[in-house]
Amino acid sequence: MEYRKFGPTEFKVSPMGLGCMSMSGAYGPADDTESIATLHRAFDLGINFLDTSASYGNGHNHELIARALKGRRERIVIHSKSGTPRTPDASGDRGGSASTYLTKTCEESLKRLGVDVLDIFCMSRVDPKVPIEESVGGMARLVEQGKVRYIALSEASATSIRRAQKVHPIVSLQMEYSLWSRDPEGGNIQACREFGMGFMAYSPLGRGFLAGMFHDAKDIPDSDNRRNHPRFRPGNIEHNLKLLGQMEELAKEKSATPAQLALAWLMAQGNDIIPIPSNKSRRHLEENLKATEIKLAKDDLARLDAIMPPGAAAGPRTKDMDRVNI
Ligand SMILES: NC(=O)c1ccc[n+]([C@@H]2O[C@H](COP(=O)([O-])OP(=O)(O)OC[C@H]3O[C@@H](n4cnc5c(N)ncnc54)[C@H](OP(=O)(O)O)[C@@H]3O)[C@@H](O)[C@H]2O)c1
Repeated sequence: MEYRKFGPTEFKVSPMGLGCMSMSGAYGPADDTESIATLHRAFDLGINFLDTSASYGNGHNHELIARALKGRRERIVIHSKSGTPRTPDASGDRGGSASTYLTKTCEESLKRLGVDVLDIFCMSRVDPKVPIEESVGGMARLVEQGKVRYIALSEASATSIRRAQKVHPIVSLQMEYSLWSRDPEGGNIQACREFGMGFMAYSPLGRGFLAGMFHDAKDIPDSDNRRNHPRFRPGNIEHNLKLLGQMEELAKEKSATPAQLALAWLMAQGNDIIPIPSNKSRRHLEENLKATEIKLAKDDLARLDAIMPPGAAAGPRTKDMDRVNI
């Protein structure tokens, strides 16, 4: 596996990371024993880059990772997000970018992960009511105190990135990016490149849709929050399934799976683009990791682009569009 220097850090990370969100019940129940086996298999196969958040399973995700990391901590780079507290009705922000919240979350994360320092601490959302200089200033103090090595942002606009960089070096941006969610091409990736930052593509499989998990809205279990996601809702899913069908045909031609094609497409967008698919099973992990061996030709990339040009998907990429790319 060809490791990549991650932004301006000294870390050499695998070309694909592992998103740990689904191991804490984001998309239906998970099994801790299989999750830990999946983490260990990932480490054995060369993945050394994990994405997690204080809010995944309200701390469960950090404790699970701590169990999996016993004896292996030195080899693994942890990117840990602050999470965003929600109002009781699960909408809106409740101060996730205030420096008091960021400090408290960082300290809790250190305890739950069982580590002395976070490799990369990332603010999950920019709150338009809190100047980004204030939030980043608070995170910079955590670096000075030795609790955090590097700081990062998630779903920050190009403007916010440029403002934040004036306060303290920001090493990476995490943002939704995939064949059917192309917003970062509108300036975020360019801003990252101006500063030599890394880019972590979250939901690289379109929350499982581009991996062909569902072929009908009725297939989505009641306990799975994708039932309420605009792109999976009746009225939109029918159109999106037509796009998936074309992608599945191309995957078959390439003797690949649609998940592998979606990940290979992302990795072909630049050495700085690191997809972080969620897998809570060794089966999906092993399938996805094979995407690192697929080199798509110019013609294949053009065909994928023709199947899913920017804006092709029906429905917004999240129901909270007012909380992203701020
Ligand atoms: N910064 C943010 O705001 C933010 C937001 C969302 C996510 N994230 C991060 O990004 C990571 C990935 O995002 P995501 O989980 O939303 O979406 P994703 O990686 O696009 O999709 C995950 C879903 O795809 C399924 N899957 C994975 N590989 C598969 C395969 N080969 N075949 C069929 N299904 C497959 C997974 O199932 P199994 O789990 O059953 O394997 C899971 O249900 C998260 O873990 C999290 O770390 C960050």
